[in-house]
Amino acid sequence: MKLFIDTADVGQIREAWSWGVIDGVTTNPTHIAATDREFDSVLAEIFEIVDGPIRVEAVSTDAAGIIEQGRRIAALHKNAVVKVPIIIEGLKAVKVLAQEGIKTNLTLCFNPLQAALAAKAGATFISPFIHRLDIVGHEGAALIRQIRQIYHHYQFRTQILAASIRSPKQVLDSLLAGADTVTMPFDVLRALYQHLLTEDGLRLFLDDWKRVPPNRLFGAGSG
Ligand code: E4P
Repeated sequence: MKLFIDTADVGQIREAWSWGVIDGVTTNPTHIAATDREFDSVLAEIFEIVDGPIRVEAVSTDAAGIIEQGRRIAALHKNAVVKVPIIIEGLKAVKVLAQEGIKTNLTLCFNPLQAALAAKAGATFISPFIHRLDIVGHEGAALIRQIRQIYHHYQFRTQILAASIRSPKQVLDSLLAGADTVTMPFDVLRALYQHLLTEDGLRLFLDDWKRVPPNRLFGAGSG
């Protein structure tokens, strides 16, 4: 199981990386635009902070352009993974990039048949969008289950990266449905830690500990 942070905000990425539980980063054109920074420099900083897979999205919509941008992204860093929209030109480009050994992540997946085509094209990863399905009355996690069933049945090696996440519940549902990786915004990642009963329990422990006299194990003033 892998957890990624879904942002291009280097402050959030640096903080989340310091917690020691995330494995990588997903960016997209919206995240990059939100930084109001120069594309090359924000990417360079993210590659500096995180020693793990970093998704960078191609913005061309024809196969030749996606292949060209994919090669440039891959040449940036050993940890670069090329994100490509799951359109017919994207599938054509992924087939070529996969043959060149370039890791690809087909994105904007909303049905299991798109995911089947992605695996056939040789995509390394597929990203079903959970929240965007949930808000139109579908069950995003059901898509993960269907993809997992198809990939298992046909022994496809493409991995499932659940994207478009807004809540810890969607993280839980994605993991229970069999996602290999879940990417989420900073505030959702932080919320995974938090539980009122944990905070209450710790406060009670520390209050009780105040009644323990100073001791050798924890030293003076620890009681
Ligand atoms: C990640 O790879 C996706 O681009 C991202 O999760 C999309 O999330 P959104 O639905 O919040 O835009």
